Amino acid sequence: MLLLPPSLVPASPMPKLSHIYNFSVSMSVSSPSLCRFSNPIPSIRPLLLSHHFSSLSTPPTKLRSLLSISLQSSFRSSHFEIRASHSDTIQTSQTKAFVVAEDERFGNKQVISITPQLYNYILSNTREPEILRELREETATMRGSQMQVSPDQAQLLAMLVQILGAKRCIEVGVYTGYSSLAVALVLPGFGQLVAIERDAKCLEIAKRYYQRAGVSHKVDVKHALAVDALKSLILNGEACSYDFAFVDAEKRMYSEYFELLLQLVRVGGVIVIDNVLWHGKVADPLLNDPKTVSIRNFNKDLFEDKRVSISMVPIGDGIMICRKN
Ligand SMILES: C[S@@+](CC[C@H](N)C(=O)[O-])C[C@H]1O[C@@H](n2cnc3c(N)ncnc32)[C@H](O)[C@@H]1O
Repeated sequence: MLLLPPSLVPASPMPKLSHIYNFSVSMSVSSPSLCRFSNPIPSIRPLLLSHHFSSLSTPPTKLRSLLSISLQSSFRSSHFEIRASHSDTIQTSQTKAFVVAEDERFGNKQVISITPQLYNYILSNTREPEILRELREETATMRGSQMQVSPDQAQLLAMLVQILGAKRCIEVGVYTGYSSLAVALVLPGFGQLVAIERDAKCLEIAKRYYQRAGVSHKVDVKHALAVDALKSLILNGEACSYDFAFVDAEKRMYSEYFELLLQLVRVGGVIVIDNVLWHGKVADPLLNDPKTVSIRNFNKDLFEDKRVSISMVPIGDGIMICRKN
């Protein structure tokens, strides 16, 4: 049975039949004279001759079975290989990315926003270690599971740690440990992550997963209020000794966490703050509940703060990446 490679068949929900698919297929046949064509799809004939075709209005799963039947009956004893890829060329309103800016002032750059379909695509291109997947799934059954960072966010945090070559990290707000485990996994064996959390029950889960992942020796769990724990690190003489910090705890305390972390992180070190877009509320001047106002003011302060370089990134609920100058 000849099957096209899985890459030909989209993993996410089947697009509608109205789509047009572009396929580029390369094929090598050891002895073309052995070919006997009884081809149900006219556009496959040029493929066999020219080794490629495109714009076929047939959904990939149907194409796959048609090709299988066709090729089985067409080749008796020849070796052949098919490589294929596909892409949509026509987008429906469902699949179209939402263009949020196309402004002349910014060179007509099209800026798109994430759609559910696009986000699925991002997740299908996100590498999530098995142990993190298990933790995420266990946490999903718990109250507050929406608090954990998304897999694509965790991947970015881990990558920042790797790019920095970070050895000493801090996390403020551990919950069940998803983001801290992502960081601990990429720290070198002698690396250290100070993981601060006030909720003992959550920490039990986090510690179980650090253990299972074999990273317990890298995580210094502090069951404490964040401000107290950060102040004691400073009192302990650890100022300017950390490479990376991630803030994901009480939103109204962000300014205080930031000031303490700025003392603890070295020049060139990075502080990442989660939820800076606060479900989009920060951009709506009519919304003025205390948490929204607090994050909005915090973002404004960071924008004006020359002690750090900043980059606001719309991933998850929005993160601010700050580099200490
Ligand atoms: C958004 S969750 C953290 C999610 C975590 N980063 C993850 O990806 O799974 C926030 C956590 O911060 C903790 N927290 C809130 N205020 C705190 C404080 N003042 N001190 C220590 N932990 C705090 C909460 O108990 C909660 O578990």
